[in-house]
Amino acid sequence: MFLKKLTLKKFRNYDDLELNFDKNINIFIGNNAQGKTNILESIYVLALTKSHRTSKDTYLIKQNSLFTKVIGDVEDNNETTNYEVLINNEGKRVSVNSNPLKKVSSYLSRINAIMFCPDDLEIIKGTPLNRRSFFNVEISGLNNDYVRYLSDYNKVLKTRNEYLKTTEKIDLDYFNILTDKLIKLNIYIYKERNSFVNKINKYIKDIYKNITGKESILVKYDSFIENEESDEDLFYQLQRKYEGVFNNEVFQKVTLLGVHKDDFSIYIDDVKINNYGSQGQHRVSILCLKLAEIEIYKNEFNKEPILLLDDIFSELDKIKKTNIIKYIENGLQVFITSTDLDNISKKIVKNADIFKIEDGKVTRGE
Ligand SMILES: Nc1ncnc2c1ncn2[C@@H]1O[C@H](COP(=O)(O)OP(=O)(O)OP(=O)(O)O)[C@@H](O)[C@H]1O
Ligand SMILES: [Mg+2]
Repeated sequence: MFLKKLTLKKFRNYDDLELNFDKNINIFIGNNAQGKTNILESIYVLALTKSHRTSKDTYLIKQNSLFTKVIGDVEDNNETTNYEVLINNEGKRVSVNSNPLKKVSSYLSRINAIMFCPDDLEIIKGTPLNRRSFFNVEISGLNNDYVRYLSDYNKVLKTRNEYLKTTEKIDLDYFNILTDKLIKLNIYIYKERNSFVNKINKYIKDIYKNITGKESILVKYDSFIENEESDEDLFYQLQRKYEGVFNNEVFQKVTLLGVHKDDFSIYIDDVKINNYGSQGQHRVSILCLKLAEIEIYKNEFNKEPILLLDDIFSELDKIKKTNIIKYIENGLQVFITSTDLDNISKKIVKNADIFKIEDGKVTRGE
């Protein structure tokens, strides 16, 4: 899969931009605050309909404009599809080949993009919420059903919480129906997350070893659910767990268990690095996590994601920079930003298409 053409209308500091790309490594070079990240962000928006760095869609609209549009031609298996995301004050609209889709959720999982940016350190250093949203975004990219189940889960959770909060005398028949619904959705989400983490672990060890030359890495999924063979066993396990907290839930007037409290942690040489670990270790672990995702896309889903690397080279040592090359020179389309070409390995620069960015103007280099 690769992005052939990108058109931005009133996006961030771009007024009207049209760029053509090859299935190659594309490097955006420019000083600070010129619009490098904005381009990567727009590609992310094209894939996921939202930004990786703000939850306020309207921030994407160029100041003093009424709307923004990101349009892209994406080639996959020799077929080109046109995608469009429009954002204005009223919300957003998405279309595929000029056909508007009723639901934004049905647009997702079509363009596979993986972003690596400095803020990703929050996946390790931030709260469980940061880590859960990482799960949710990444698994949604692979599986559109996950998007639906997650939204159903949140709806049932909300209803259940409202009921606990507002009801003096719980009607057990009704409450048990809600709990059973929640249990089924818990199981689906748990299994998807568990399988995602298992797949990550299948690839991340080798990647980490190849890049750092040492140490072992492991991602651990922390859930209140214990794995069992069958869905039926899982169902009974969860029924027992919810029964066990029933009195407390009634007392505290809130749902106390569920995958909305899940977390995961990363271990290097058996030490949890969420609290320990150097900045460099954090950065490399997250990078390896993302590179492992690429392997999942390629090996398990036969998909080639578009890789977006925002300013990742400035803080890596030379050895790691060199070792990363083999993962990004693997026939993927890659977008890299940097303030300085010297930060990037000569081997990468040699074959790349270079774009210079100055105050929202892009010129193609030789
Ligand atoms: N909605 C908006 N309307 C107009 N300009 C915007 C908007 N949002 C951001 N900008 C401008 O975009 C510029 C920042 O762009 P971007 O984050 O892409 O910079 P960058 O080239 O990646 O810089 P750095 O090297 O510091 O990361 C800033 O000048 C900012 O004022
Ligand atoms: Mg930037």
